[in-house]
This record gives sequence, C-alpha cells and structure tokens, in this order.
Amino acid sequence: MVGEVQKQPAEIRFAEELARLTASDPGPRPPGWRLSPRAVRAFVIGDEARGVTRKFWGDDALVDRCIVSVMGLQGLLLVGEPGTAKSMLSELLSAAICGTSRLVVQGSAGVVEDHLRYGWNYALLLAEGPSARAMVASPVLTAMRTGQIVRIEELTRCPPEVQDSLISILSERTLAVPELGEGTEVRAAPGFNVIATANLRDRGTHEMSGALKRRFNFETVESIRDPAFERALIARQLADRLADHPAIPAPAPDVLDVLVTVFRDLRTGRTAEGETVAQPSSIMSTAEAVNTVHAASLAAAYLDGGPLTARHVAGQLRGVVFKDDPEDGRKLRAYVDQVARPRARSSRAWAAFCDGT
Ligand SMILES: Nc1ncnc2c1ncn2[C@@H]1O[C@H](COP(=O)(O)OP(=O)(O)O)[C@@H](O)[C@H]1O
Ligand SMILES: [Mg+2]
Repeated sequence: MVGEVQKQPAEIRFAEELARLTASDPGPRPPGWRLSPRAVRAFVIGDEARGVTRKFWGDDALVDRCIVSVMGLQGLLLVGEPGTAKSMLSELLSAAICGTSRLVVQGSAGVVEDHLRYGWNYALLLAEGPSARAMVASPVLTAMRTGQIVRIEELTRCPPEVQDSLISILSERTLAVPELGEGTEVRAAPGFNVIATANLRDRGTHEMSGALKRRFNFETVESIRDPAFERALIARQLADRLADHPAIPAPAPDVLDVLVTVFRDLRTGRTAEGETVAQPSSIMSTAEAVNTVHAASLAAAYLDGGPLTARHVAGQLRGVVFKDDPEDGRKLRAYVDQVARPRARSSRAWAAFCDGT
C-alpha cells in the first residue's frame, strides 16, 4: 500500500503505465533492462494507443539519443539551463529502464567520495573490523551490484576531485574495495549506468575534468521553443498540481497567455513584436512559470476567493522568480513600462498584469 505523500517517484506515479508497457513489449531488451528501448521511449514521449501519457515535451530525437547513450558504455550527462526538465527526464528514463529512479546522489559542495563509493557503519567496523556487513554502499555501488541506473543530480556542484571518483567506475565498471582484502572489487552487473545532470547557469558550480567529460555523452536539454506547446504544458502541469484542490477552476485563457508571454519575453530578451527587453538574471524557465501560476491560483482562490487574474500572476513574480536581485526588479519595471502598458490599452488581462506589478 502506498500512503499519502507529497510527491511519489515516477515508477510509483506511473506504475500502471509501466505495467501496461511491460505486458505489451515484444521488443528485444538490452541486458539488465526491464523494458525494450522502444517501450522506454513510449513511456517518456507517450503512446496514445497503449494509454501512455506524454511526460517530456520537446525534442523527441533528444530522448532517442539519451536512450541509446544509456545502452552504451558511456554515462549520460544532461546539461542545460535550470528548469528544462533534466532531472525529470533522468527520473523517467531510470524508472523505465531499471524500475527505480531512487538511486540518487544529490550533488553539492558537501559531497565526499564516500557518497559516490562506500562508507562504513562505524559501530560494526569497530566491533568486527572491515567486513562486507560493515560497508555502507552508496547509491552508485548499489546500482553497480543490482545492474540499475544511478542518478547523479547537479554533478558539477560536487568538488572536482570528488567528481573524478566516477572516472574508474565509468571506464572500468569496477569499484575497488581494498579494505576487504587486496584485489577485492565490485564489478557492475549488466544494466548499470550513470545518468547525471548539470545546470549551466547556476552559481556555485565547478568545472569538470577532461578525463571525466570523456566518460560521458553530453546532451543539451533546451527550453521549449514553441509558445503554444509551452502554454499547453503549463496548463497541464497546473492542473496536476491543483488536483488536490478541486474547487479551483482552470485559469482563463487570456491569463495563461499573459503568463506565457511574460516568461518568454524575459527569457529570450525579445518580444513577439521584435522589441528587445533586458533579460533578468533570474531563471525564467517553464518550471518557474508553473510555480508562479500555481502560487497565483492558490492566492486567488484561498485569499481573494475569486478567479485567477493576471494581477495575481504579477503579484507572485517577485517572490517566485525575482527573489533577491534588485536589478531584476528594475528590469521587470522597465518591461512593464515599455511592453506591458502598451499592450494593456487593448487587453484587460495585460491591464490587470500592470496593476499587479
Ligand atoms: N520539456 C518539458 N517537458 C515536461 N516538463 C517540463 C519541460 N520543461 C520543464 N518542465 C517542467 O519543469 C519541471 C522542472 O524540471 P526539472 O527536471 O527540475 O528541471 P532541471 O533539472 O532541468 O532544473 C519539470 O518537473 C516539469 O514540470
Ligand atoms: Mg535538476
């Protein structure tokens, strides 16, 4: 039984779809894989005939390249701007390929080699000396033993020398455990691989060594190009988030239009009319747009007791997106004066947006 939690891993959220794909999967499977590569693709980009929803919206060829990459002996590194669904894609691929997305190391300045290799249960270590029982496996070591995928989130936030402990794991596919006796090593079972993610633009990231770069295939995940596509995605993800609040109606189309347009204008630095606007340093990703409209919907419904308006959207921009950069606040005001106010002359939604900023 699954108790109520805020967010379930992909293999649980989509357990039915995965079961259906498994039941109708005639394709050959690479060693150690739960599904054929074609079924993995169907899981990620959807297959209406089999009742499988699309989860990653965007570049389908990228998904294919990622799947091929995981079949090979290179790791897969998804790079791109924050909020472009790199983590989501790595979670979906892992869930479909090996049945779990939960072997994860979250990269940070605090990660040490043990987190990528193994540590010790010190009570057992003191009582019996080094033994297999006293070893505490990292998610990487567990994935090697079970032939599954380990996800390394934000790899470039780890100190470079810690990142480099992946080199021998990726090239030799073995992990030496000298404490258990000379020559003791763990050899990766078929199906093992690494899917890592890295943000290009966030502060606090490190370089990657050339040696480690060579062990990864790099795939760049771009933000969504087509505005209509992005709008549909935001509407769908908002609906998912508001599933627990059945009293909140779907947003009006003109409010969604304002939201999507504001994010795209500021992200690209260009309006649809071809005007140039100053780009804020804050991340204007699809994910931030979903966060903004989600917060705005909650504020409208629970605090104002009315429908969502573009004024609510504007009201959430500062906290959800602009956070603590005063320069970005000035850029937003310039955008409002230069772009939003002229639009407000012929649109009530844009007028409401200007009101709220
Ligand atoms: N192309 C896309 N397809 C589906 N969802 C997307 C897409 N781009 C962004 N999202 C949304 O953005 C959210 C955040 O993505 P995340 O995986 O955390 O980004 P990243 O790891 O790149 O920073 C996703 O969970 C999803 O809701
Ligand atoms: Mg991420």
